[in-house]
Amino acid sequence: MIRNTRSAYGIVAITLHWTIATLIIGMLGFGLYMVTLPIFEPATYSLYQLHKSIGFVVLALVALRILWKITSITPDLPTEMPGWEKLAAHLGHISLYALMLIMPLTGWLLVSSSPLGLPSVFFNLFEIPHLPTPEFLGQKADVSAFFTAVHGWAAYAFIAVILAHVGAALKHYFISKDKVLQRMLSSKA
Ligand code: HEM
Ligand code: HEM
Repeated sequence: MIRNTRSAYGIVAITLHWTIATLIIGMLGFGLYMVTLPIFEPATYSLYQLHKSIGFVVLALVALRILWKITSITPDLPTEMPGWEKLAAHLGHISLYALMLIMPLTGWLLVSSSPLGLPSVFFNLFEIPHLPTPEFLGQKADVSAFFTAVHGWAAYAFIAVILAHVGAALKHYFISKDKVLQRMLSSKA
């Protein structure tokens, strides 16, 4: 089944969920490791280029996912779930979507406004242009520092929300014993 139904996720939503989840969890670890390396080393520069290239892939996949989401139906949560849990799930998913966009966009904005002016070369193939960056935040260096701080803090917020999300999925499986986790694993659940 390709598309979602009222009770199940389709193969497109499931594939996008797990591909993006794997890339983002990897990128959070990669980013935190990468910033501990000595700067201005050729090997560090290559790792930054790789981080940026994977980040652009994530941005494209997230755009596709949001398009798919708004043109599809979302399966209903189990009717026995209390209202506050449904609200928490809804708010959690909105935060996840917001963070999926904030991470790559602030990454792109921070390199676009960096006084270093380094290019972003997509997997050594072609250069991705810098975004125009807002002037109202101050000098170029301040603008870049602002987006660098947001990129860093959003990463920690993302880790916290992912942990809560995984905790909720495990609660559905082990405590509520409903099909919420299984239906994100298979479109036949
Ligand atoms: C899924 C998307 C992304 C994730 C999860 C992610 C994650 C991270 C994390 C965790 C850090 C370390 C933050 C810190 O401790 O200061 C980081 C740093 C960085 N990221 Fe990303 N990133 C993403 C996308 C991007 C993109 C698209 C770009 C640029 C085009 C980018 C450029 C950078 C740069 C330049 C740094 C180093 C910032 C510094 O100097 O402190 N990131 N990223
Ligand atoms: C970076 C990591 C992750 C992100 C960004 C993420 C994001 C999301 C989002 C936005 C949804 C809502 C889908 C929709 O209806 O539009 C969702 C659903 C779901 N996620 Fe994740 N997820 C991540 C990791 C995980 C992991 C590791 C698990 C498993 C332990 C998981 C289990 C689930 C389940 C079971 C659902 C279905 C909830 C339902 O049926 O309403 N997710 N995820």
